[in-house]
Amino acid sequence: MVFINENFTRLEDSYLFSTIAKKRAAYQAAHPQAKVISLGIGDVTRPLCPAVIDAMTAAVADMGRAETFHGYGPEQGYDFLKQAIIEHDYQARGVEISPDEIFISDGSKSDTGNIGDILATANVVAIPDPVYPVYVDTNVMAGREIKMLPTDATGGFCAVPPAFHADVIYLCSPNNPTGTVLNRAQLAAWVAYAQREGALILFDAAYKAFIADDTLPSSIYEIPGAKDCAIEFCSFSKTAGFTGTRCAFTVVPKTLFGQTAAGEKVSLNALWNRRHTTKFNGTPYIVQRGAAAIYTPEGQRQVRETIAYYRENARLIKETLTELGFTCFGGEHSPYVWLQAPAGQTSWEFFDLLLEKLNVVGTPGSGFGPSGEGYFRLTAFGSHEQTAEAMQRFRQYFGK
Ligand code: MLT
Repeated sequence: MVFINENFTRLEDSYLFSTIAKKRAAYQAAHPQAKVISLGIGDVTRPLCPAVIDAMTAAVADMGRAETFHGYGPEQGYDFLKQAIIEHDYQARGVEISPDEIFISDGSKSDTGNIGDILATANVVAIPDPVYPVYVDTNVMAGREIKMLPTDATGGFCAVPPAFHADVIYLCSPNNPTGTVLNRAQLAAWVAYAQREGALILFDAAYKAFIADDTLPSSIYEIPGAKDCAIEFCSFSKTAGFTGTRCAFTVVPKTLFGQTAAGEKVSLNALWNRRHTTKFNGTPYIVQRGAAAIYTPEGQRQVRETIAYYRENARLIKETLTELGFTCFGGEHSPYVWLQAPAGQTSWEFFDLLLEKLNVVGTPGSGFGPSGEGYFRLTAFGSHEQTAEAMQRFRQYFGK
């Protein structure tokens, strides 16, 4: 028989969101009449905006004509999309990125997981707690030593550089699940740590479109020195509704280096390019045309409208829960509201209570790490109607 990667035996049996989906399905099967509202997984519900649909439709037509047909594209993505990203996401914020530092992909989930392919197993990895479970799970799969960086309500759930050495640090800002965002000084402290320790920061900016205050950094490269120590992951999923269509990009600056055991300096950009071209054949042309359309003036306007729609849900959730006496975080620069479960309840107990008594599905905080125990995440990605209905149920159950 074949030998398995035994690191997998050290994982929880099931990925967090699969467990939640199973529990919800089991409840629904047992209570077919229940009108369950899902504010659990952060999946968008608003359709792709008209500018994206028009661009995709035109791209479908391109694929139907020999003169404009596209087969394999460049694995790293088409220039038309990279140029739009450079101009709007970086140059507009005073950051210089070149096209060969951008890698278009099928998602930040895949990229934040796959990036480990180019990093040695011996690296010590620091991961804020609570955070998106993919970072921990993929490093467990790889057999790396993980040191958690616990965060709590007192520190606003913001991870600060530790006293110990780490080789790789994951940061997610705005954070999934707590919704808190790192300001310039907090990010600068991380860049200084990475420079001092010779560490690599893996910066997940999947939720940057939700940053409502323009003085907050939406890219780690707004911090001087970050291009020498950070890889950045961005996604069109939450920005423009691409969770089902799949499109994201990762920036690996050419000024970023790692070393071999023998001390030889190696470009991380060259390694990621080698990995990407070997294991990935490019995001579909039609999808990249759609993604590029969000950078047109109409696309920008339409995408902002959708973000405002979700932001209104986040406001309603946070306002209602705060009024009901819950302690809440996030929701301002993030589609997630992070709340403390009623005293004495674990995250999963609160999950069961909400499912059974309110027929509302959320995400237990402990699923994002031990420091999430006793907390709970609700997403603003539902419809206005469902969000309002869920809040009504909270009022009925928890109101005085
Ligand atoms: C979440 O709910 O945390 C996200 O939707 C998961 C993801 O983006 O993969």
